Amino acid sequence: MEEEDQALFIQEPQHRPSVSTMEAQGIPVIDLSPVTSSNPSLSSIDALVKEIGSACKEWGFFQVTNHGVPLSLRRNLLEASKNFFSQSLQEKKKVSRDESSPSGYYDTELTRNVRDWKEVFDFLAKEPTFFPLTADELDDRVTQLSNKSPQHPSHFRDIIQEYIEEMEKLAFKLMELIAMSLGLQPKRLEEFFMRGQTSLIRLNYYPPCPFPHIALGVGPHKDESALTILAQDEVEGLEVKHKTHQEWVRVKPTPNDYIINVGDIIQVWSNDAYESVEHRAIVNSEKERFSIPYFFFPAHDTEVKPLEELINEKSPSKYRPYKSGKFLLSRMNSNFKKQTEENLQI
Ligand code: SIN
Ligand code: FE2
Repeated sequence: MEEEDQALFIQEPQHRPSVSTMEAQGIPVIDLSPVTSSNPSLSSIDALVKEIGSACKEWGFFQVTNHGVPLSLRRNLLEASKNFFSQSLQEKKKVSRDESSPSGYYDTELTRNVRDWKEVFDFLAKEPTFFPLTADELDDRVTQLSNKSPQHPSHFRDIIQEYIEEMEKLAFKLMELIAMSLGLQPKRLEEFFMRGQTSLIRLNYYPPCPFPHIALGVGPHKDESALTILAQDEVEGLEVKHKTHQEWVRVKPTPNDYIINVGDIIQVWSNDAYESVEHRAIVNSEKERFSIPYFFFPAHDTEVKPLEELINEKSPSKYRPYKSGKFLLSRMNSNFKKQTEENLQI
């Protein structure tokens, strides 16, 4: 990153990295082999669905093992990411994000109005035809969103595409398990992704930070996706707010697991049965850190609202419908400042 004015990065005292993390008790680790092995038993799938349901309820976060994504793909993409970010700022800015697309490089992200200590490259999992949305309405200006693709490393696009295919497979499996855990038909949530997707993959680079006690790599936020699948490298940094204890829990890096979290869209679909949980990334003064979240989003014009099966007299709908594309729109606005945290109580 460029020489920066330190003041921009300073967090309010209550948001600074705290000392009281519930280190011992990590997020749940869930073995996905019942759905990734060749001949699963029904009882093992049942048990898995229950585990997923409890993790979503208690934490909104869990880690998965035996997920079926080849380790080599993740390693290759991390390597490509390192190569990309190791270039000069001038080179990286050749693929800067601009008004034409939410894809590209930037280093000026704000979370809750404080600068994040990170550099980012965003890439659309599909290149959707996008109808910019104004408020809740569809506009008739059609835009084909396309990806920025760095020259270096030369195989960047192939690697990221291969990785995206695997992320999508895993996301569909998880959506099925989550649907079942909510008592829905297994394919109930899949239908929202069939008309298209606005899923996004993000390469995060957190350079060593000279003042890690007062800054954050990413400030506290919730994800606007349906769900997020995160790969973090061997340097720790992700912290999750435990829902009942309200304490930050550090997620220990594991070389091959993925970290899954419920996003805002599942929170709305489930009418708050599962909540999108606050999380953040801390930085350190010695090591650089890389992470790769994949944000799974339905088609931009999907009307997001609580599912009929999950609302009744006792549990009336808590949300007004909104279009899922508002997320992309907020990333495409002219100054690209991340809009202040959306409060879900709409
Ligand atoms: C994020 O939630 O935006 C990033 C988390 C991480 O880098 O671990
Ligand atoms: Fe996040």
